[in-house]
Amino acid sequence: MATNEARGHVTVVGSLNMDLVARAPRMPQPGETLAGHAFAQVAGGKGGNQAVAAARLGAQVAMLGCVGADANGAQLRAGLEAEGIDCTALETSATAPTGVALIIVDDGSQNSIVIIAGSNGEVTPETLARHEAALAGAQVVICQLETPPAAVHAALAAAHRLGKTVILNPAPATGPLPDGWLALIDYLIPNELEAAMLTGLPVSSPEQALAAASALRRAGARNVIVTIGAQGVVAALGDDDPLHFDAPRVKAVDTTAAGDTFIGGFAAQLARGANVTEAIRFAQRAASISVTCAGAQPSIPTRAQVDTP
Ligand code: RIB
Repeated sequence: MATNEARGHVTVVGSLNMDLVARAPRMPQPGETLAGHAFAQVAGGKGGNQAVAAARLGAQVAMLGCVGADANGAQLRAGLEAEGIDCTALETSATAPTGVALIIVDDGSQNSIVIIAGSNGEVTPETLARHEAALAGAQVVICQLETPPAAVHAALAAAHRLGKTVILNPAPATGPLPDGWLALIDYLIPNELEAAMLTGLPVSSPEQALAAASALRRAGARNVIVTIGAQGVVAALGDDDPLHFDAPRVKAVDTTAAGDTFIGGFAAQLARGANVTEAIRFAQRAASISVTCAGAQPSIPTRAQVDTP
């Protein structure tokens, strides 16, 4: 990063998980026991990943969330601090263990994830009220759905009230967003599965993603960006015609946290004043590098890696 370039401020409200990752030739069938190739324990959680991505990709970052008073929590906190992330608003639960994610990555580089919320479930509207300064200091605020809906709504509402650029990554999605949420969000960024859950439409091609993004616009979303893996990104920005951005071609080994890298990179670019198209292309380059490496946070590139042709 150029030393005299402005760094924007990004605050992430969300989850931190310890990821327990098994590599396997394919996904197991129900009832099947399958021999895997490898196991790793790495830092993850959509909130933590997006915070690390925004920090490595050029922003000053604050993290608002909750870890447990255990070894996993200490390791996740130390990892964020080592990235220069402000953890003043990262609380420690006296009762709940740190969140975990059980992840299987198959030989096709795809993943399946089960999360156990643990301390992520202890982020509440009161947590947001205690740490409003963390939102006030940011240009861009990012939320996901791995913390309780009441806390996410409180974060969206406070960030909107404070005039911040508000990003929601609706992950994991189980259906349409609650009434009133879309009006609080500037950029809604689902992947193809989440876009399908939000709209009830099939989303497995750029054309279908364009239709889903347009449907979300009609439902009241200001700007919608659907990430569709190797098929790129579809963006419905304001009243402009939706656009399709091809993905850079790479050999993927693990897609875990590719979406998080995209969102952190996009937010870092918006926070430093980049235009949306520039921010999308930068975030795509960052995400395409992340899929060439294994693990969530270990796979997230730095700004210098993204800028190197
Ligand atoms: O987006 C990837 C992340 O989802 C993993 O790191 C896992 O912790 C789950 O939150």
